Amino acid sequence: MPGKMVAIFGASELLWIVFAASQAFKIETSPDYSTLVQIGDTISLTCSTTGCESPSFSWRTQIDSPLNAKVSHERTKSTLTMDPVSFDNEHSYLCTATCGSGKMEKGIQVEIYSFPKDPEIHLSGPLEVGKPITAQCVVPDVYPFDRLEVDLLKGDHLMKNQDFLEDMERKSLETKTLEVTFTPVIEDIGKALVCRAKLHIDEMNSAPKERETTKELQVYISPRNTVISVQPSTRLQEGDSVTMTCSSEGLPAPEIFWSKKLENENLQPLSGNSTLTLIAMRIEDSGIYVCEGANLIGRHRTEVELVVQEKPFTMDISPGSRVAAQIGDTMVLTCSVTGCESPSLSWRTQIDSPLSGQVQSVRAKSTLTLSPVSFKNEHSYLCTATCGPKKQEKGIQVELYSFPRDPEIEMSGLLVSGSPVTVNCTVPNVYPFDHLEIELLKEGTILASKQFLEGTDRKSLETKSLDMTFTPTTEDTGKALVCLAKLHMGEMESEPKQRQSTQTLYVNVAPKDTTVFVSPSSILEEGSSVNMTCFSDGFPDPKILWSRQLSNGALQPLSENTTLTFISTKIEDSGIYVCEGINQAGISRKEIELIVQVFPKDIQLTVFPSESVKEGDTVIISCTCGNVPETWIILKKKAVTGDTVLRSVDGAYTIRKAQLEDAGVYECESKNKVGSQLRSLTLDVKGRENNKDYFSPELLVLYCASSLIIPAIGMTIYFARKANMKGSYSLVDAQKSKV
Ligand SMILES: *[C@@H]1O[C@H](CO)[C@@H](O)[C@H](O)[C@H]1NC(C)=O
Ligand SMILES: *[C@@H]1O[C@H](CO)[C@@H](O)[C@H](O)[C@H]1NC(C)=O
Ligand SMILES: *[C@@H]1O[C@H](CO)[C@@H](O)[C@H](O)[C@H]1NC(C)=O
Ligand SMILES: *[C@@H]1O[C@H](CO)[C@@H](O)[C@H](O)[C@H]1NC(C)=O
Repeated sequence: MPGKMVAIFGASELLWIVFAASQAFKIETSPDYSTLVQIGDTISLTCSTTGCESPSFSWRTQIDSPLNAKVSHERTKSTLTMDPVSFDNEHSYLCTATCGSGKMEKGIQVEIYSFPKDPEIHLSGPLEVGKPITAQCVVPDVYPFDRLEVDLLKGDHLMKNQDFLEDMERKSLETKTLEVTFTPVIEDIGKALVCRAKLHIDEMNSAPKERETTKELQVYISPRNTVISVQPSTRLQEGDSVTMTCSSEGLPAPEIFWSKKLENENLQPLSGNSTLTLIAMRIEDSGIYVCEGANLIGRHRTEVELVVQEKPFTMDISPGSRVAAQIGDTMVLTCSVTGCESPSLSWRTQIDSPLSGQVQSVRAKSTLTLSPVSFKNEHSYLCTATCGPKKQEKGIQVELYSFPRDPEIEMSGLLVSGSPVTVNCTVPNVYPFDHLEIELLKEGTILASKQFLEGTDRKSLETKSLDMTFTPTTEDTGKALVCLAKLHMGEMESEPKQRQSTQTLYVNVAPKDTTVFVSPSSILEEGSSVNMTCFSDGFPDPKILWSRQLSNGALQPLSENTTLTFISTKIEDSGIYVCEGINQAGISRKEIELIVQVFPKDIQLTVFPSESVKEGDTVIISCTCGNVPETWIILKKKAVTGDTVLRSVDGAYTIRKAQLEDAGVYECESKNKVGSQLRSLTLDVKGRENNKDYFSPELLVLYCASSLIIPAIGMTIYFARKANMKGSYSLVDAQKSKV
């Protein structure tokens, strides 16, 4: 056959190219010369031509073994598909294309391998510090395994490297294992164990196929140093509680398990908590308690022995061996037992009299309630407790007293300065009264005290009192009077029971020095105004009461104001007014007479028949005044030797036969308490024929000038009392003094 043939030899592939006669006829393959494919995968080899209308293709292996592949043609292209790739496909495949007389051939070398999975790391067991362990790195289903290299690293440190260079006797998938034994240390915690497998398959291509698996190292420490702490103690009493805490070291932290050793040495599990608390322990709870710390790789245990002792049987009685109970109150006596499951309790009195109370028993406690406490309860009460064969008895002495109220202070009367008063301090319903002491104190100073020591067999509540007489003074006001009652409770209570009452002293002073100020005067002219002001001393401040004394002597109250005012006085306001200063301690009074008058006026002095008469004539001298009541009219004949008061009838004086001696100055005085008015005239008596020069006109003029006195209105007061009215009187100037 004409043509040119070129052979190219490679290390593992062989290529044949056959040139056809026709210059244009060419053959191409894909992949070009060779391909590397993994067992189980799918691969297609393609052969195509150019420069030929309808080529024909054929495939074969170089050593003429079966193709183990499917062929499909398509005009100028033929495909050989291996699905899946297997050992039987490890060949050099040749594609032959024929175009008429032309024929061309091209080969493709198919190389196979297997490296399907990452390596697996297996450890012979959990890693425990100090314990040798074997780590395996398993690389499964490798082909060709003579090209396999495996590294095992701990962190960055290469522990082992191996090439699996053994000859391959047959084509097969093999699993290769690299094994290393090492002893973990604490520092290995957290480090990675790395298995790296390399398949040096492609000699043309320097980088090998590589798979790697990493496993973090879990390093464990077996439990150790398991320790138990016991609170409060391993020696306990019945009913006590105990707390036991257990700890154990290890990695991971050990779990704690508590159990109790049974008689047959088996363990009875109790708790999975590190703290085990046992409450209300019984004797049977004595024994050996086991704490075990456990983790994945080990366990460690410790034991503790608890001893629970029987609690002694005790009995308590309250409130104490002696108790003071107040009559009428409620008293509860309690008897309680500890250290006995089911005691029996009973009460009695020492002299076996009735209990006079209610008993209530609940389990290990019994109460005796005395309500209300009475004389029947003055006993020594005994409580008896029986627990199995054991028996105990305790007593409680109930001592009675009665001291229910504070003392009462009573005064025999009002406290008045200087007057003796009796203070009575009474303590009601006391028992036993022979223990009673009463004290009366003034500002801390004991005034009187008394102890009631009389013994008595009588059981009764008695009221006791202490009295004392004293004379208060004004300095006592504000001081505290205290009545202190003490009931001595004997040996039972060192301090006596005390009750006290306090009264603040107010010492009264009876009113005195009651005085009245009258302004302007107690004698007034009708229509004028007057103020009468009253003052009185005393404690507390006396109250003022103004009254008017009626004709029958009775008092008509008018005002409680200090000042009694008349704006415009009338005659009827005249009278006696009484001011009283009044407080609890007494009354002090002062009287004042108020005189209201009308001033005398319109006085007329006339003579009949004339001021000049002859001897023997009858002359009538008469004096009249206006109708002012209570006016005295005094008719007088003035003389150098002394005035003669003339007896007048209704102001008229009659001279039957006028003598010469009857000549002279006549004066009429009209007066009342407010004032007086004078009129005078001169009577001339002419003798019959002779004694013509007797008349002295100068004298008349003199009298007229000096005797005709009209007193100033209002301000002239005379002082004469009614009793003095008959005789002479004197005029006194206005007086405004205390009356
Ligand atoms: C364990 O202790 C925890 C906390 O101290 C507590 O909540 C839990 O109930 C306990 N478990 C047991 C079984 O006692
Ligand atoms: C004191 O008062 C009590 C009770 O009011 C009475 O029994 C007693 O007689 C009084 N004593 C005197 C001395 O007044
Ligand atoms: C009486 O008292 C009043 C009030 O103090 C006073 O205004 C009046 O002038 C007094 N009258 C006389 C007459 O003193
Ligand atoms: C007492 O005085 C008051 C005021 O000072 C007065 O209002 C009252 O009328 C007076 N009472 C009498 C009875 O005078």
